Amino acid sequence: MAEKLIDAYSRIARKLRISITDRCNFACLFCMPEKNKVKWIPKEDILTFEEIERLTRLFVKLGIEKVRITGGEPLMRKDVEKLVAMLAAIPGIKALDMTTNGWFLAEKAYKLREAGLRGVTVSLHSLRRDRFAKISGIDALDRVVQGIDKAIEAGLAPVKINSVAIAGYNDDEMIELVDFARKRNISIRFIEFMPLDGLGVWSQDKMIKGEEIIRIVSAKYRLIPKGREAGDTATLYDFEDRIGEIGVITPMSNPFCDTCDRIRLTADGKLLTCLFDTRYNDLKSFMRKGLSDSELESYIKKYVYMKPPGIAYMPWIKTGWEKPRAMHAIGG
Ligand code: 5AD
Ligand code: SF4
Repeated sequence: MAEKLIDAYSRIARKLRISITDRCNFACLFCMPEKNKVKWIPKEDILTFEEIERLTRLFVKLGIEKVRITGGEPLMRKDVEKLVAMLAAIPGIKALDMTTNGWFLAEKAYKLREAGLRGVTVSLHSLRRDRFAKISGIDALDRVVQGIDKAIEAGLAPVKINSVAIAGYNDDEMIELVDFARKRNISIRFIEFMPLDGLGVWSQDKMIKGEEIIRIVSAKYRLIPKGREAGDTATLYDFEDRIGEIGVITPMSNPFCDTCDRIRLTADGKLLTCLFDTRYNDLKSFMRKGLSDSELESYIKKYVYMKPPGIAYMPWIKTGWEKPRAMHAIGG
């Protein structure tokens, strides 16, 4: 029986998101700071594959079951499929997935599948070339669509789509995005815009609530509610014909902090127990100082115990706060 990572509010961590780089070739307006203001994490501070593997092994021993590799853009990390293979080989890992912007996916999909990756979630916020470029800072619509199709072809499963809904940018495209996913019989999740953007463009009125998205999509489709599983972020709905699936992720309008079972490891080896955590519990320094596995385990346990209650209990976040780091350095 694995040991349990439990916090002061009795939540048990079962999922780990590992950001393997803070770098990204996109510049989504809800994520990246201005190009000349981005401070990339220096190379020597980025965890090596061996360090990531060691920590992941400890996390899995402590009860983590599912691991998701994130970024920045994880496929920008050199030899990423090697890391995938190392993590997939850890006994006790039940699922290994990745969240990616899709740029390198067409070229990497088969290699990732062979290395042991289970599924991919690809971010896609618009199906119009000009808008895609405006939102994600790069003319890459065709390439990302090819990436999604290659991932499906390669047998990565589940392939899912993430869309951040932003008023005035893509809020009239919900149906088109849904149809894009249904055509491929895959799941699409709309995420509420969170104030974790690097540019500081977030405002309450740019955020489209999950219930609004469901209302818009319901004008075309009858949706069958499936609810939200404890620990999951998405509230899911089926379509009547059971083709595809739609979810809304509502951290702002309906936070799911009470059942949160996620923790995060940043590319520079900090344990982030909540997206809105401002403490950066530095596992890398401990590891590089030569602490033993059991010493690291007790720090991990201690930090998880101190996990904050979450945005649901931190109302000031909605009215503006000093972000310690933007989304690209957290990994979503
Ligand atoms: N609010 C909501 N979602 C965001 N993402 C990045 N920044 C934000 C934000 N400020 C999304 C990405 C990706 C996922 C990991 O998080 O688009 O799909
Ligand atoms: Fe890159 Fe993802 Fe951030 Fe867009 S949201 S800039 S793809 S890390």
